[in-house]
Amino acid sequence: MTKRIRKAVLPVAGLGTRFLPATKAIPKEMLTIVDRPVVQHVVDEARAAGIEHFVFITGRNKAVIEDHFDLAYELDDTLRKRGKTKELEALLADLPSAGGTSFTRQQAPLGLGHAVWCARDIIGDDEPFALLLPDMLHHTHGKGCLAEMMDAYNRHGGNHVAVAPVPDDQTHQYGIVGVEDVKAKVSRITKMVEKPPKGTAPSNLHITGRYILQPTIFNLLANQEPGAGGEIQLTDSMIALSRLEPFHAVRFDGDIYDTGSKIGFLAANIAYALDRGDLGPQLRQEIERLLER
Ligand code: G1P
Repeated sequence: MTKRIRKAVLPVAGLGTRFLPATKAIPKEMLTIVDRPVVQHVVDEARAAGIEHFVFITGRNKAVIEDHFDLAYELDDTLRKRGKTKELEALLADLPSAGGTSFTRQQAPLGLGHAVWCARDIIGDDEPFALLLPDMLHHTHGKGCLAEMMDAYNRHGGNHVAVAPVPDDQTHQYGIVGVEDVKAKVSRITKMVEKPPKGTAPSNLHITGRYILQPTIFNLLANQEPGAGGEIQLTDSMIALSRLEPFHAVRFDGDIYDTGSKIGFLAANIAYALDRGDLGPQLRQEIERLLER
């Protein structure tokens, strides 16, 4: 029997320097993909996978994320008085339940491994948990990425990362895994490396920013030396974890948008908007008109 996964960690402490000046006063996670903040899309994916509690690893100037996942009394009241019940219901449906969010601060930008370690007390030492990097949007018309990983977890237990192929000239930008069977949907991991120097990657399967981890990771992170880029790297502790417990890669077949990059952000806006019945057809016409110029 595997232990049920109830909690998800979302690291949202990053400064978003690639998006200045937009991110001077607004957290990058609150930039919108169509009309929903990036972080709301990721919470939606996690809720669809059965996550009940969201642990946000925040930093200075991130308070609006906390407000976003709370009731907004004045707004709700105004919508109610104006009879905008559909809008109000939609707002309320987006919220995790009362008590279903926790916020803790990373204090210093020491790396992803350090950010995850900051969740140790809230997760506790006997519950596996999900980890979602909010920059990375996993777009699919089928089952969500984390939901697929939950299926794999329920079959195999242990630890999981989502992976997808990247062009060979980009492997140095990501965590890369080697697997027993590159074609399989779920495969045992044989190798893991964070940001391998060009030409040294064990495959072109990159870690896409979705994880299911056992709490063993926290003890490993506590003693983790800085790695690539001088940061405390989650991948380095996952390598140590893979020597202790089973570790699987789950291939994600949808589209991944890195909304932390300008091209990824713009492409995500177009892809998500084209999917919408109320916007798609008209946007398609606008794009065609622009491309004809
Ligand atoms: C982090 C992880 C890396 C992963 C990537 C996905 O890197 O360390 O393994 O492939 O996220 O976006 P970062 O983007 O923080 O440099």
